[in-house]
Amino acid sequence: MEVQIHALGFFIEFGILIPSSPIANLVYLQTEIAAIDNVKIYKYREIRQATDDFSGDNKIGEGGFGSVYKGRLKDGKLAAIKVLSAESRQGVREFLTEINVISEIQHENLVKLYGCCVEGNHRILVYNYLENNSLDKTLLAGGYSRSGIQFDWSTRANICVGVAKGLAFLHEEVRPHVIHRDIKASNILLDKDLSPKISDFGLARLMPANMTHVSTRVAGTIGYLAPEYAVRGQLTRKADIYSFGVLLMEIVSGRSNKNTRLPTEYQYLLERAWELYERNELVDLVDSGLNGVFDAEEACKYLKIGLLCTQDSPKLRPTMSTVVRLLTGEKDIDSKKITRPGLISDFMDLKVREAAETKSEEVNRQNYTNPSSSSNTSSGDNSNAYSSGGSSAYAGNTFSSTI
Ligand SMILES: Nc1ncnc2c1ncn2[C@@H]1O[C@H](COP(=O)(O)OP(=O)(O)OP(=O)(O)O)[C@@H](O)[C@H]1O
Ligand SMILES: [Mg+2]
Repeated sequence: MEVQIHALGFFIEFGILIPSSPIANLVYLQTEIAAIDNVKIYKYREIRQATDDFSGDNKIGEGGFGSVYKGRLKDGKLAAIKVLSAESRQGVREFLTEINVISEIQHENLVKLYGCCVEGNHRILVYNYLENNSLDKTLLAGGYSRSGIQFDWSTRANICVGVAKGLAFLHEEVRPHVIHRDIKASNILLDKDLSPKISDFGLARLMPANMTHVSTRVAGTIGYLAPEYAVRGQLTRKADIYSFGVLLMEIVSGRSNKNTRLPTEYQYLLERAWELYERNELVDLVDSGLNGVFDAEEACKYLKIGLLCTQDSPKLRPTMSTVVRLLTGEKDIDSKKITRPGLISDFMDLKVREAAETKSEEVNRQNYTNPSSSSNTSSGDNSNAYSSGGSSAYAGNTFSSTI
């Protein structure tokens, strides 16, 4: 049965009120917006004022989802304002549904979402502004000498444990659980007390399925990608745990997962960690910027946990709540067997092989293959997975944009 309500422009179908005119649609959306009580809806005008009309001076970053501006809101609070790129302009209703989910997820180690703006084509997120920037722009960009922040051992340990707790919360306490998909140094922000906050959780849900980070932003993210996710598109919480393991080793070593300025054998952090682990010399990987002032046993334990999180088989990686217990010493790491981690350079070799086969140019292989990992490369099975999986298209993008 269908009942028309002409005056308001609604009709009822199967007991549901459906807007049938643009005005009714607007009323309907406004009602829906009003029903979202966790999130503040900002006027575009206020956002423009807060950012001084999105001035270059206020721009603090640019990521895969769009540009980020620093702004001061009407109530005086500082905010990080993320203007989502065109690709993420999903419908108002879908956008608000996702925002509502994200805004309900609150934890001391997660960045707080203040609200959003959904006027016309604009899709803007407004976050709590974190004073001490991201780990990639501070610790990994030269530590104290560049940022003025002293990353002593206890600060680093606190950051590692905080990030682990935030991720354990997303993985194990939020229902349905949230897979972050993009754990990396630029998504770890620091507040004025250097307490870590994970940013951008839930954002992957705002993007169309065919336009995930993996296909578009992989160059900056590649070193954090779990092999099974990169090659076969298998996305589970264990992919985040792999990324966390890489991040953990970066924090302890004070270097990023890949550094092409170093001699070839030192370029890949995971490879280096495994070599040193096998020689029982892990302590050599600890950041020399600490000037020897650190708890060597604890630092090596953290590196071992990093290796455990990056094991090639997802099954061998611990859950995040176990990681928290390992980091804090509530659980012993020594009983855990550690095998060679899943090295991303193996994956690069695969792509190299594929590229070489496609072009039939042996010279390509020479140029792209990382000599230190070539002996460990597996062949047939993974190559098949590469081309046959539903994710093969983005896997291809991944490496054409990286090599
Ligand atoms: N809440 C915030 N407070 C302070 N600075 C922030 C905040 N959010 C983002 N930034 C800054 O903006 C930069 C860009 O962030 P953005 O998330 O857009 O890019 P990204 O993290 O490099 O990549 P991705 O899009 O993959 O997350 C960050 O590195 C950080 O310096
Ligand atoms: Mg980010």
